[in-house]
Amino acid sequence: MDNEAHSWELIYRLTSTYDRAVPHEDTEDLHRLFQENGVRRILDLGCGDGRHLHFFSGLGYQISGLDYAPSALYLAGEWLTGENLSAELVCADMTGIPWRDEQFDAVISCLVINHNPVERIRRTIEEIYRVLKSGGWLFVVVSTCKPIGPMRYHSGIEIEPDTIVLTEGREKGVPHHFFTTLELIEMFSRFTFIDFHWDSRSRACLLSRKR
Ligand SMILES: C[S@@+](CC[C@H](N)C(=O)[O-])C[C@H]1O[C@@H](n2cnc3c(N)ncnc32)[C@H](O)[C@@H]1O
Repeated sequence: MDNEAHSWELIYRLTSTYDRAVPHEDTEDLHRLFQENGVRRILDLGCGDGRHLHFFSGLGYQISGLDYAPSALYLAGEWLTGENLSAELVCADMTGIPWRDEQFDAVISCLVINHNPVERIRRTIEEIYRVLKSGGWLFVVVSTCKPIGPMRYHSGIEIEPDTIVLTEGREKGVPHHFFTTLELIEMFSRFTFIDFHWDSRSRACLLSRKR
């Protein structure tokens, strides 16, 4: 396990996440969109302790969760089982998604890809593209890509332009990349953009489709 995965593993060994019970504010809208478009199979990339697995499994979707922190998957599995829900849980790094091409109708990834250096983010986006069916949906949330956001001033070491590794606090050891809007547009240029907005916590939400 590399240092970054290990940092997340430690976080989940200490506790489940604070916002575990509440899915992202856009999930109800996503559910409507998915229903209207016949989405059945979803991949939650970087599922953590499972708040979106719980939400979408409860609505009857066939959902898979990938994360590289085993304890996150353990917490997610325990929670789902306790509520008679199910999801396929896979421990892996998202830079090499262990599914064949064109398996999913949708990929969701909330506050995950930004916790990686740029080169790994680029590899992940290629992988998302590969595992999505043609016309498949992608919903990504990344921490602020506004030029000046609250995380900017957390103490950390800049390991490359706009990526810091925090040196204190709960997410000590975890990289945080701060996207610019232009960078997001460039990185996801293989996808067709459907919507882009900021959520109530100033995070960037991108909805797009594989061409
Ligand atoms: C802030 S948590 C978000 C969890 C979940 N998506 C949610 O919204 O509750 C980030 C998660 O991404 C996972 N993660 C980060 N980089 C990853 C990578 N390269 N491969 C797999 N999982 C990764 C971490 O282990 C952690 O569970």
